[in-house]
Amino acid sequence: MIWESVLAKFKELFGDEGEIGVYFAPGRVNMIGEHTDYNGGHVFPCALTIGTYGVARKREDKKLRFYSMNFEGLGVLESSIEGLKPEKEADWTNYPKGVIWAFGEKGMRVDCGMDLVLFGNIPNGSGLSSSASVEVLTGFILRDMFGFDVTNQDLALIGQYSENKFNGVNCGIMDQFAIAMGKAGHAIFLDTATLKYEYAPIKLENAKIVISCSNKKRGLGDSKYNERRGECESALSQIKEVIEIGALGDLTEEQFEQHKDAIKDEVCRRRAKHAVYENQRTVKAVEALKNNDVKLFGELMNASHVSLRDDYEVTGVELDTLVEEAWKVDGVIGSRMTGAGFGGCTVSIVKDEAVDAFIEKVGAAYKEKIGYAADFYVVEIGDGPVKLA
Ligand code: GLA
Repeated sequence: MIWESVLAKFKELFGDEGEIGVYFAPGRVNMIGEHTDYNGGHVFPCALTIGTYGVARKREDKKLRFYSMNFEGLGVLESSIEGLKPEKEADWTNYPKGVIWAFGEKGMRVDCGMDLVLFGNIPNGSGLSSSASVEVLTGFILRDMFGFDVTNQDLALIGQYSENKFNGVNCGIMDQFAIAMGKAGHAIFLDTATLKYEYAPIKLENAKIVISCSNKKRGLGDSKYNERRGECESALSQIKEVIEIGALGDLTEEQFEQHKDAIKDEVCRRRAKHAVYENQRTVKAVEALKNNDVKLFGELMNASHVSLRDDYEVTGVELDTLVEEAWKVDGVIGSRMTGAGFGGCTVSIVKDEAVDAFIEKVGAAYKEKIGYAADFYVVEIGDGPVKLA
């Protein structure tokens, strides 16, 4: 068991006295609905069975002692719950610190310190939300240790708040929501404008979800993520002059085509086009799945990638190579980049009998073109956060 080795590490570093809790929060993959969550659109992510393990214990003083088995070289990082202040990404401890800070901002004061050891089996910075996983995990631990009266949906909102205000990344709600609300075997069809959601079973008869990791690292903070948000906001304010809407997600494709000339800047117009069409594609994709039309679902995934590549411009040669090579393999139902983009991972639906060939062919072509290897994960859809011991 992975958690047993994390617990052993905790005891080795911090001793075994007192009440020690062992916890897990998943990572997530988004099947379709990319860069729609800050445009009042729909998303369709699911939690994974890979994620972040955390072992924690309350302290009597104000100290925070944090250790990550993924960054062993950094050793134990010590700080205090006093004077936590929003700052730009320094090291991974900004994620748990940001959540402690965010609870305080919401009127739930964390009044003593804690010892915490983490281990994540999600590749870091890969677009599978390792950071949101740490945020939701921290919130889940704080709720358990301090008895705060918050729901899992609140944990998602607090996680997002901490990422926005403490870590300076203007992310939407998708990642934290998918992680906090995950359900095994299901994706979450979430309307980010209202937070209404429904669980949709993912029944892929004779097919698997395969994640291909480009191994091109990306930090959301220094990527163009915030720039894309700004472009969408600018497009929205221009189109609002000719049609009354609250968000780009309110538009149908037809309405967009009718009013798009109100967006003067060509780049912003393309960004808005993606946001509108991707939202509609997501609605259609969930409908297709309900009708057991996995083929159509795959086609919509492919169209999503093309739009992210050409109109939203968040892919890059690494993700494009993974997807375009995937499309060539027999037995691939659909393939697209997932997450923020600019590096990270792709998600593909691959027929069972084609999985080995997929990994071999896409892997070889990627290495040949990019010069280093990609990693592949055949994943399962898991539950939200849990206390393991
Ligand atoms: C990141 C953000 C999400 C979402 C995706 C793009 O993962 O954290 O809120 O915007 O990018 O769909």
